[in-house]
Amino acid sequence: TFVVTEACIRCKYTDCVDVCPVDAFREGPNFLAIDPDECIDCAVCVPECPVAAIYAEGDVPANQQSFIALNAELSREWKPITRTKLALPDADEWAKVEAKLGELKR
Ligand code: SF4
Ligand code: F3S
Repeated sequence: TFVVTEACIRCKYTDCVDVCPVDAFREGPNFLAIDPDECIDCAVCVPECPVAAIYAEGDVPANQQSFIALNAELSREWKPITRTKLALPDADEWAKVEAKLGELKR
């Protein structure tokens, strides 16, 4: 499966969702998750993300490993998103912030 990581938090650019052939993205207030039961590992979403938040599960950086379980957990709680929409306000400012897991809203 592919995994959305910390860089997405408070940005949520949503460029990723339009290209997913199986509608695997789930939307929360300020983050998206990929449903591991839906993702078919096609990788087309990866280059779409302006902040490079999406990784193959096997390539998730060491300090982002908790996002593997987090994507699975949140995707069970959140609804699908299939069309790109406006990024969050201040997305470009939050894109420069590295440690922002504490900002995640459920
Ligand atoms: Fe969708 Fe492919 Fe990205 Fe998985 S890797 S979330 S199937 S676009
Ligand atoms: Fe998040 Fe990047 Fe998609 S910021 S919403 S993973 S395009």
